[in-house]
Amino acid sequence: MPSDRPRLRSQDWFGADGIAGFAHRSWLKNQGLPDRVFDGRPVIGICNTFSELTPCNAHFRELAEHVKRGVLEAGGLPLEFPVTSLGETVMRPTTMLLRNLASMDVEESIRANPIDGVVLLCGCDKTTPALLMGAASCDLPTIVVSGGPMLTGRYRGRPIGSGTSVFAMNEEVRAGRMSQAEFRAAEACASRSAGHCNTMGTASTMASVVEALGLGLPGNADIPAVDARRRVLARDAGRRAVGLVHENVPMSAILTRAAFENAIRVVAAIGGSTNAVIHLLALAGRIEAGLILDDFDKVARGVPLLVDLMPSGRHLMEDFFAAGGLQAVLSELGDLLHREARTVTGRTIGEEAADAQVWDREVIRSVADPLAPEAGIAVLRGNLAPDGAVIKPSAASPHLLRHRGRALTFTGVEDLRSRIDDPALAVDEDTVLVLTGAGPRGYPGMPEVGNLPLPSALLRRGVRDLVRISDARMSGTAYGTVVLHVSPEAAAGGPLALVRDGDMIELDVEHRRLHLDLPAAELTRRRRQWRPPAAPQGGGYRRLYVDHVLQADRGADFDFLVGRRGVQVTGDNH
Ligand code: FES
Ligand code: MG
Repeated sequence: MPSDRPRLRSQDWFGADGIAGFAHRSWLKNQGLPDRVFDGRPVIGICNTFSELTPCNAHFRELAEHVKRGVLEAGGLPLEFPVTSLGETVMRPTTMLLRNLASMDVEESIRANPIDGVVLLCGCDKTTPALLMGAASCDLPTIVVSGGPMLTGRYRGRPIGSGTSVFAMNEEVRAGRMSQAEFRAAEACASRSAGHCNTMGTASTMASVVEALGLGLPGNADIPAVDARRRVLARDAGRRAVGLVHENVPMSAILTRAAFENAIRVVAAIGGSTNAVIHLLALAGRIEAGLILDDFDKVARGVPLLVDLMPSGRHLMEDFFAAGGLQAVLSELGDLLHREARTVTGRTIGEEAADAQVWDREVIRSVADPLAPEAGIAVLRGNLAPDGAVIKPSAASPHLLRHRGRALTFTGVEDLRSRIDDPALAVDEDTVLVLTGAGPRGYPGMPEVGNLPLPSALLRRGVRDLVRISDARMSGTAYGTVVLHVSPEAAAGGPLALVRDGDMIELDVEHRRLHLDLPAAELTRRRRQWRPPAAPQGGGYRRLYVDHVLQADRGADFDFLVGRRGVQVTGDNH
């Protein structure tokens, strides 16, 4: 180890004499490590969310090998470790219930181990925020490698977008225009390669967020999972992780207020998922960046929608990559970004994107000729959402952005499922569907049910959208005039719990207003009658979750996890 470099954290383990040093080194040598690797070189932990039950991350064993090559090339020691993996498509009741648990696993694994820097391997929706949150509470030099999107799916000659096309086909089935056999045949066409959802859903949004925050290398957002260049990116990330340790660049040096503002603007420009709001608030809470819900509305004002990808638009991630990808978007945004924000490459985000070009104007538009002049997520307030609610106007129907209609309420996901197709349901195209009991505490876990299915009676009449309001989240691949994340949620006593069938609700996105048109006295009367839902039965993690989860406007993190705790550990087992 060159003498001008500070002694690294890992040397507290590997540089020790006596029985402790013996224990720390000897057992690792059972993997074929020679004694020289304990000479003080940077130890890079590769935090891997590989799992066959997380299909989006199932190629991560191989990806980790490329990271290791990069770490070795740069003179570091790579050591891979597994953490809780969250598979969006199969886990019940929702991966969101387990995001905070996974983040605790990541944080404690990093802190407890002889690691100087970290490479986070993440892909599917929740593994990215979970890993970022856990690592942020430790604040070591950290670099993120996303797994990359799947290739474009094709069914009968038409592209299939993960999630988005599935929702659309499902509506076709319910309207009687597509058979069950056809629907099933489309399954294999939709997911034909390794990688995460190929729409601008939550996974691609979060991979873009990683790049916009400066935590990932250029290309992180969009190189397809199976493209050889994804492996090069993984190798380069391994190399840079070693560099970040030598340069002593903690995560907090990258995750500045400016970095978060860049990420918020990028989420707007790409038409990204509303879930990014929750995850960014939680991450900012961990790294203490002082972000609040209203920042999403303020910071993204004036940012145009540039990317024509599903669910808001037409194309898919493979097209986005070919069109120049996120670097081209960053370049287009120009002065709309804090170009001086530092990235893990050692250069600024402006320097990185300076030479990026757009190769296909159908997919990535210019600021002068955008798809929509205002792309941000709108934060609504009013007597129905005192702590805020969000809507993504670019995925909504323009004619519903200002709307007054009668409420039709559903108390919980089961109630919704059992009644939505009831022919006797009193609905028309002006009805406002309201779902309660699906917030962080309510379900619990805040499932992605906010894009309530439309009553099939209306679908058959050709109605394609209704105003829908809930305390739930929505899949990043979904669309519609959907008001989400209403805070406080119904289960926490929010006014959403007081809505009755037939009440008049006013939505005015331009003026950021969500209003329940009732006299204050009536609201007070209903509030006095309201009783909180019973606590969930049994103990275990769910108990911890319900007792400690914060509301959506705080990112639904646990109250006791907010903040940076560093990597100091006292005491030793040996
Ligand atoms: Fe994993 Fe969509 S299911 S990213
Ligand atoms: Mg999702």
